[in-house]
Amino acid sequence: PVEKRVENLLSQMTLEEKVAQMCQYVGLKHMQIAEKNMTVKELKKNHAQGFYPGLHSSDLVHMVEEGMIGSFLHATDLKEANYLQSLAQKSRLKIPLLMGIDAIHGNGQCVGATIYPTPIGQASTFDPALVEQVSKETALEMRAMGSHWSFTPNVEVARDPRWGRVGETFGEDPFLVSKMGVATIKGLQGENFDTPENVLACAKHFVGGSQPVNGINGAPFDGSERTLREIFFPPFKACVEAGAYTIMTAHNEVNGIPAHGNKWLMQDILSKEWNFKGFIVSDWMDIERMHDYHSVAESMDDAFIMSVSAGMDMHMHGPGFMEGIVKAVREGKLSEKRINESVRKILTAKFKLGLFENPYYDEVKSKEVLFNPSHQKTALDIARKSIVLLKNDNILPLTESKYKKVFVTGPNADTHVILGDWAVPQPRENIVTVLDGLKRISPETQFTTLEFGWNLRTMKPEKIKQAGVMAKQADLAIVVVGENSMREHWGEKTCGENTDRMDINLPGLQQELVETIYNTGVPTIVVLINGRPLGVEWIAGNVQALVEAWEPGSFGGQAIAEILYGKVNPSGKLPVTIPRNVGQIQCVYNHKYTTKWFPYAIGNSGPLYPFGYGLSYTTFKYENLKIEKEQVTSKESVTASIDVVNAGQFDGEEIIQLYIRDDYSSATRPVKELKDFSRISLKKGERKTISFRLTPEQLAFYNADMEYGVEEGTFTLMIGSSSRDEDLQKITLKVKN
Ligand code: IFM
Repeated sequence: PVEKRVENLLSQMTLEEKVAQMCQYVGLKHMQIAEKNMTVKELKKNHAQGFYPGLHSSDLVHMVEEGMIGSFLHATDLKEANYLQSLAQKSRLKIPLLMGIDAIHGNGQCVGATIYPTPIGQASTFDPALVEQVSKETALEMRAMGSHWSFTPNVEVARDPRWGRVGETFGEDPFLVSKMGVATIKGLQGENFDTPENVLACAKHFVGGSQPVNGINGAPFDGSERTLREIFFPPFKACVEAGAYTIMTAHNEVNGIPAHGNKWLMQDILSKEWNFKGFIVSDWMDIERMHDYHSVAESMDDAFIMSVSAGMDMHMHGPGFMEGIVKAVREGKLSEKRINESVRKILTAKFKLGLFENPYYDEVKSKEVLFNPSHQKTALDIARKSIVLLKNDNILPLTESKYKKVFVTGPNADTHVILGDWAVPQPRENIVTVLDGLKRISPETQFTTLEFGWNLRTMKPEKIKQAGVMAKQADLAIVVVGENSMREHWGEKTCGENTDRMDINLPGLQQELVETIYNTGVPTIVVLINGRPLGVEWIAGNVQALVEAWEPGSFGGQAIAEILYGKVNPSGKLPVTIPRNVGQIQCVYNHKYTTKWFPYAIGNSGPLYPFGYGLSYTTFKYENLKIEKEQVTSKESVTASIDVVNAGQFDGEEIIQLYIRDDYSSATRPVKELKDFSRISLKKGERKTISFRLTPEQLAFYNADMEYGVEEGTFTLMIGSSSRDEDLQKITLKVKN
């Protein structure tokens, strides 16, 4: 019946009404903020931001009433969403609006939402079921704010920490990114996004933007088809197989052809090779950039035609697209059949989402859904599991009797920066900062504090001196440093979208702050709140404990405090390698053998912390690695197993990782590749046998002739607690036909 309804509606639509379905605009409030704050001169200067002199929120109102807009992004409150839907109901065909938003770790652009850890933190849990739960709850909170489409998951494989968006990704490994991407899609879309609890997902940005020249957002991706197929394509393919209904194209060019006009990517790969049936949306201003940045189109109109001809279905924000495409069809440059294809897919989504039955959401019900106790519980649970303990010189967990006076400082100690990118500041009572958390968890301790404010660029040397004086009077110092990726602090933030850096050190005077405190002789714990891996080599080599908390969301401060005081045993593992410094980039665990020489050449011995690494308060021992058969054919699966024993003094959770290495192959292979993982919990003294089923698909690769399959020969199977050689047990598997 959905197909019938779509065809019936399509047959009644004028060309303009059809193209309107392909047009998305930014929400009214967003536009009004731009209008209010900027003069026309400033608006012109901000063209790159996508605000247009001459286009006003009032124009959008009329356009919706006339049925000339099909979708909005960033209508960030329910009143606005319901109002826009009521305008659409005045149009001739009453087609409801599809509302999109970047709900990448909770519906964070809306005030009152539950904020979960950013995706890099979610990936650190190695717990896809929990990530699916987060997305399920996010879908509910989105619906409760009138939204039906999240621009997530970002399944780019992060290969350069200078790039500001690493925190929005699930890290550097294609397998882990695929697992987390699929979990996100399942949580958001459910079976088929056809219930009022589900929303559309959007796998983005297709493709290559996470390995841009110099780490700059939107800079070219220049890499082989092999690299695309081995590293960057797999998560997108997995998302398409999991039913992701939308894909967003990348800002960048891919080997010379901008992704937004790339027929090979949109038609040959997505549609023909992977059988993608959903629709493709552009990123903000990126079709236009084919004209004014990439210079592959002589005019904006040419850019619109180029993009739609290549496979684009929806244009994100801005005037001109509608007129350009209608004109192109009338002049025979584009066929109406091509337009029908896009409109069919967009209308199908609106029908399945139930928007024709009810485009509104109830305001009373909305209040019950947002930030409800069960969502709060999940946010705390995932924050606990996402935190990675990097160093512990026998100081953690803290004992209250030993450290009675604790000095807590650093720019991220008591601020909403803990919420991360794509979140607006939330009501103060909905956030537990690190300082709040410590006070809650250890009411007996006397905490003193010195505030620095979130602005890392304005830290004052005098204040650092004062911190040194205060540290001397304490038994222990907890210094919370890192980065700031909050959009609210645009222009001052150091991380997040369009905040790429030339270095990966601690910005501002934070390094001086840590050194000053440490040099007083007080035991020092450093907690990092950050989006990208930071090269904190001095800190790792000196302070007594180092905790990577990423951007842990609404209850991040509580989770951190629980870990520091041993109420929770840390269990997160790194989904990215942490390099020592910027010179080591590209620094990933799944490099080729020959890359290993570089770190030695500059006097270092590998990365600061490897992929998959993370400490616990207990000790896990790995014993008895076995494979069911030593030899299999290239069509057979095989099971490998290992015993894991909790040999320490605490109950705990461990993430067991399986890597493989194809020992000799017709084309070179990475030194190791993650093929499976399992998160288990073990009581003190408990032992469990963990089995992994290794399939031919997991042993396959693109051979020297770019054919996909398993080659005969030996494979080294490695199972253990991180990607580091000394943490892995090894066994050989032979493949022979
Ligand atoms: O979804 C985002 C994208 O990731 C970056 N540009 C803007 C889009 C909409 O907010």
